[in-house]
Amino acid sequence: MTPRRAAGSAPKDVVMVAKRLFIKTYGCQMNVYDSARMADVLAPLGYAPADRAEGADMVILNTCHIREKASEKVFSELGRMRLLKEQRPMILAVAGCVAQAEGEEILARAPFVDIVLGPQTYHRLPEMVARASRAGGAVLDIEFPAEPKFDHLPDPVAAGSAAFLSVQEGCDRFCTFCVVPYTRGAEYSRPAASLLDEARRLVAGGVREITLLGQNVNAWHGDAPDGGAWRLGRLIRALAEIDGLSRIRYTTSHPRDMDDDLIAAHGEVPALMPFLHLPVQSGSDRILDAMNRQHGRSDYLKLVERLRRARPDLALSSDFIVGFPGESDGDFEDTMALIREIGFAQAYSFKYSARPGTPAALIETRVPEAVKDQRLAAAQGLIAEQALAFNRASAGRVMSVLLDRRGKRKGQLLGRSPWMQPVHVDAPDSALGAIVDLRIVAGYANSLAGERANA
Ligand code: 5AD
Ligand code: SF4
Repeated sequence: MTPRRAAGSAPKDVVMVAKRLFIKTYGCQMNVYDSARMADVLAPLGYAPADRAEGADMVILNTCHIREKASEKVFSELGRMRLLKEQRPMILAVAGCVAQAEGEEILARAPFVDIVLGPQTYHRLPEMVARASRAGGAVLDIEFPAEPKFDHLPDPVAAGSAAFLSVQEGCDRFCTFCVVPYTRGAEYSRPAASLLDEARRLVAGGVREITLLGQNVNAWHGDAPDGGAWRLGRLIRALAEIDGLSRIRYTTSHPRDMDDDLIAAHGEVPALMPFLHLPVQSGSDRILDAMNRQHGRSDYLKLVERLRRARPDLALSSDFIVGFPGESDGDFEDTMALIREIGFAQAYSFKYSARPGTPAALIETRVPEAVKDQRLAAAQGLIAEQALAFNRASAGRVMSVLLDRRGKRKGQLLGRSPWMQPVHVDAPDSALGAIVDLRIVAGYANSLAGERANA
């Protein structure tokens, strides 16, 4: 694929005054990636990133529709934006999955919004901005274009030492609770050659760690540069050969798409980090079936066993939904038992929320809110205990940490252990971007404290 300039790029002889662009990102890492790419697309128009909405010339809310709480936030934030817009002219755009799912409703409820765009059309932002600036009504673009946006995006700009690389988007699994197949559309995998190119450019820009992103990332499959067909394990092996790329991760996976080669890669590719986010959602076969997860409890347990055989120090994370329609006390106990049996390094748990248009939203055997609250507290309590135990067990060990950010305190840097634990250490700014050996001196609920091993 030949990288093309984004449509609407400014001609070189036009001098532009910097305009301020504020993007507020909700939801998953895919949205974080999309926000960065939207900033890339708008840079040729003179938009430079700003860190607040006040005083910005353009504000984009990049929204999340996964749970009710997430989508409600958008409408309250829009109320705040309206006040800002009354004080100072600005272009207000709503992007992401709420825009995709509720585009018309946004324009009806918030007519002061200038642009509504879905996750598949942001390469056309320059055109939309031009149309919005000419006034005469809002611009709505929530198509699923035949040509993927990736063919039209400018090269990504490497910022920092850890980067995301979007390899796959959309999902064909249709879990009955999930809006993703509707908001992000059918599964689409980017070609291997273009991913390898993008990874090489990121590494040339100073990136040491790449996280491959996809809504169902291990469903990735692509035409290989050598003419064959690759799956994710093979892509990871090819990425690991890039000089200077020290760490590879991928998220989020579906248990059914963990194939033999990907499992083997965990044992064979040293750059593939020993941490895997592998959502299971429930430990009850009955609920897994109602969720259309297409696997049972024992399939998940066996899969974890195989992964741990391939990579004995693999740490696991997961997602759980409590209070799915029809979930009994016994079903929930099965989930708690599964959490105990596996032992997670961390995990996320959510109360089920009915999403419009999904099959589970039609099931009438709802779990009362108070029961959901109790189950959520129990699941989160157990997960927190396990995370604390995992972090405490790190104390005394020496581990390699990629120092990718400044800490809150002056003279402190923050990094990630191979197992995704945030690690704080006193170190000078000159160590930013380095992978250093740190001795872990303490493990807390969500982080570790380290000191330089040879200091
Ligand atoms: N209700 C609650 N949680 C949900 N998730 C997805 N859809 C819903 C829903 N309707 C959770 C799943 C998924 C994570 C990203 O969000 O656990 O893995
Ligand atoms: Fe949603 Fe993940 Fe299920 Fe796809 S596999 S439908 S993204 S929960």
